[in-house]
Amino acid sequence: MNDLLNFLRIPSISALPEHAADVRRAAEFVRDWLDRAGLHGARLIEGEGNPLVFATWTGAPGKPTLLLYGHYDVQPPDPLDEWISPPFEPAIRNGNIYARGAADDKGQVFILMEAVARMLRENGKLPVNVKFLIEGEEESGGEHIEKYVASKPSELASDAAIICDTAMFAPDLPTITTGLRGIVYGEIHVQGARTDLHSGDYGGAAPNAVEAAAQIIAALKDRDGHIRIPGLYERVRKPGESEISAWKSLPFNAEEFREKEVGSIALAGEPEISLFERMWARPTFEVHGIRGGFVGEGSKTVIPARAVAKISLRLVPDQQPEEVIRSLEAALAKAVPPGITASFKLLSSAAPCMVDPGNVFVRKAADAMKKIFRHETVYVRCGGSIPIVGLFQQALGIPSVMMGFGLPDDNIHAPNEKFSIANYSRGIDAVVEYFSSL
Ligand code: BES
Ligand code: MN
Ligand code: MN
Repeated sequence: MNDLLNFLRIPSISALPEHAADVRRAAEFVRDWLDRAGLHGARLIEGEGNPLVFATWTGAPGKPTLLLYGHYDVQPPDPLDEWISPPFEPAIRNGNIYARGAADDKGQVFILMEAVARMLRENGKLPVNVKFLIEGEEESGGEHIEKYVASKPSELASDAAIICDTAMFAPDLPTITTGLRGIVYGEIHVQGARTDLHSGDYGGAAPNAVEAAAQIIAALKDRDGHIRIPGLYERVRKPGESEISAWKSLPFNAEEFREKEVGSIALAGEPEISLFERMWARPTFEVHGIRGGFVGEGSKTVIPARAVAKISLRLVPDQQPEEVIRSLEAALAKAVPPGITASFKLLSSAAPCMVDPGNVFVRKAADAMKKIFRHETVYVRCGGSIPIVGLFQQALGIPSVMMGFGLPDDNIHAPNEKFSIANYSRGIDAVVEYFSSL
């Protein structure tokens, strides 16, 4: 675990250019660690953006080949003053490791790394063939891995991808994730007057870009959470009855969820649709931030000329990013108030995806997790996105087994991110058990 703590000390924040050297150091750390563990040809794959780490062990002829995926980059740690211990000085408190990346995804990547290392150490060989592919742009929408996988290098050929980058539904409840939402992330750029103007002189005549941004956003989603983009829901596939009924038997208390996890006075979203369906099987439209106008202390009487809203839509099967972008742009054009011009600047996108729970690689993972956690494995979907997973299916033709060991209260992307040490060690046991069962 000491090595994991050292890994967590590297602030490999892919969204912040000033951390480029740290991002590279994290890639080299993984490469060197895999090399020392006995993997073959451990190397960095360079390209535009952050390097991929690649390493293999293919000494099990006739056995399946598994693509072991994860990411070594992390989210920015802000707001810093809310951390009990500093984000890049891992601290152990009541059975958890606290650090940025502890659960997402350094601690979980280390589960795969440690499991393989343990088997090589104890047996001198593995029961399966493995290819590690660990990326450094998952958190920032980088395209390096996408270009690499889409070019279908023969060195990626494998039977299934194994991913530890999701969460368990509840403590002690082993969980397989069978669906991820996709995403369209970008900025709405709003322009009114040529330059900022005195609000007394020009108020009543000049268009206000910040107000326009608010009007545009309000036009795109109503108070009941329905997204007002014509055509957006056309391709939304209703979850099957068996999936819905499986979700109904999950141990869950909506009131407790509202109070303890969300912490708001009420939940939002489409009232006629059940909560899990809203979070896992419906598209979303969210505003992440609005930049523009005067936000300093005191007052300044100005009509802002420009505003930028960062927004995203989460996508569900069978929506496709390209089509959603076109629909969004059409709806945006209609929502622009008089005197204003607005445009959408795409930053990144990813398709949604589903995994067949009947797939043999999924079933055997569920069995192995059940054995280690002594509880029947549950199947859920995830509201988040892991952009490359759709392409593993499309370009490589392989299913992804998402066996995650995070917990709902791990605070990923938030202050005081943590990872349960018990789950870390049970995760390693489960992966060893799984690979041995194949
Ligand atoms: N590991 C998460 C995905 C995830 C989120 C799994 C919630 C389980 C629960 C992943 O690192 C992530 O945060 N993805 C981003 C992708 C985006 C930046 C394109 C996301 O979902 O926001
Ligand atoms: Mn992740
Ligand atoms: Mn993440």
